[in-house]
Amino acid sequence: MTEESAHDGGPEPESTIETDGGNGEGVVRRDRFSGGPARSFLSSLAADERIFEADLEVDRAHVLMLAEQGIVEDDVAGDILTAIDAIEVDGHGSLPDGEDVHEAIETAVIERIGAEGGKMHTARSRNDEVAACIRYRLREDVLDALETTLALREALVAVAEANAETIMPGYTHLQPAQPITVAHWACSYEGAVRRDTERLLEAYGRINESPLGGAAFAGTTFNIDRERTAELLGFEGVPASSARGSSAEQRSAVVVENSMDASSSRDFLLETTQALSTHATTLSGLAEDLVIFANRGFVDLADDYSSTSSIMPQKKNPDTLELVRAVAGDAAGSVQGLTTTLKGLPRAYNRDLQRATTHAWDTVDAVTEASEVAAGAVATADWNEETLAAEAGEGFSTATGVADLLAANGLPFRTAHEMVAHAAENGGDYGALDSAAREVLGEPLESFVDPEAVEDALDPVESVASRDSQGGPAPEAVAAQLEAAREALSADEETLEETSDALEAAHEALREEVNGYV
Ligand code: ARG
Repeated sequence: MTEESAHDGGPEPESTIETDGGNGEGVVRRDRFSGGPARSFLSSLAADERIFEADLEVDRAHVLMLAEQGIVEDDVAGDILTAIDAIEVDGHGSLPDGEDVHEAIETAVIERIGAEGGKMHTARSRNDEVAACIRYRLREDVLDALETTLALREALVAVAEANAETIMPGYTHLQPAQPITVAHWACSYEGAVRRDTERLLEAYGRINESPLGGAAFAGTTFNIDRERTAELLGFEGVPASSARGSSAEQRSAVVVENSMDASSSRDFLLETTQALSTHATTLSGLAEDLVIFANRGFVDLADDYSSTSSIMPQKKNPDTLELVRAVAGDAAGSVQGLTTTLKGLPRAYNRDLQRATTHAWDTVDAVTEASEVAAGAVATADWNEETLAAEAGEGFSTATGVADLLAANGLPFRTAHEMVAHAAENGGDYGALDSAAREVLGEPLESFVDPEAVEDALDPVESVASRDSQGGPAPEAVAAQLEAAREALSADEETLEETSDALEAAHEALREEVNGYV
């Protein structure tokens, strides 16, 4: 949507901002800068649709604080707050022209109630305002992204629960390596996605701080209350959670203290984009595994997560997962773009920052969608137990278990490794192992180890069962991993719920306060 199409038919700003007090000069100074060929290049109004609601909330909190501090008269605050409500009903598309949403909303307020509306911009700047709006909106977006990481963990846990004993081949270098279970594979990704969740929660904690009141960068002469606007907007730092030791009573407003830091720092954007990019990288590996597993007939993806060919009627392709895999590229590109934009920027505000923001929006949208799709694909996939079992021992994948067995019976592991490697070249069955023993060690295999134990070690099911070290694939070892996964998942679910509730509570409390004026 271009700015023009979004604002077609909107009132002309020049005709509306009469603040000259009758001296005939007409309008506020900004009109001198409002035209020209670079107008659309300068404007972020179309992209600012994303922060329209956030800006109205930030405006409300700021105006309330100004009234409470006696900086703006109560009746003027009431008029401004009433106008803001009306502007919300009309929507972003009805805003008058402006360099950005902040300017356009202020213009719209002045159009409705006259020059007194301009008092809303007392003791602030668009610099602290936009930083507050981005943080306000990004909080919600990161919560949505976090939801999808939880859904994915839930899906992986369910796959693990249903497949504790489903044997499958495990790979290194894409070569058959050692048999594992589908549950062990699923838990490996659950652990990674759990850390992705933690990184996003940490980023959330630093997004959730209020820059409002930093003004242009150098503070203000007015007696503002920064804690109050932070409180009204629910900026309370780390995610709310009793699980994390912060009850609702303990939580309090958090401001970005230094006014120059508050108005100009965007490390929270970078940190969030990086955390999302890391999650996208995890997703890309998961997607790639599933693409390979589908290719080998290990897993059937649900039709909903597949696509067909426009020419080859027999095809069922894992397109959605290929797109999930590709999102990691978009996210990494955004991290690069954002870093390069921010690198070397002088203090304090520079307009480059306008273009920094969109990298974060693009990333959070793409990664949230990819994460959601990955969760759906995992939850609906069908694992082919028979194919998996038949392939689990492929490529003499039980070789390590045989070497371990020989080592457990007193042979140095290096010698055992060499001997089993010989056997591998001749098929890796009992006969091959016996010949290798005679050749390498000069004695039959049974003089080192019980033949039955060797047969067991050659069996993929037994092989998996015997690898019961902490974190290993043996069903009881995976059961312990699953228990930890479930515990962490419910703790994070609680954190997320309480954090969303805290935001909702702040929103409602702000509304109550506004109702006292309108
Ligand atoms: N649209 C601007 C942005 O996104 C808002 C701040 C403008 N401030 C300024 N000093 N020109 O960064």
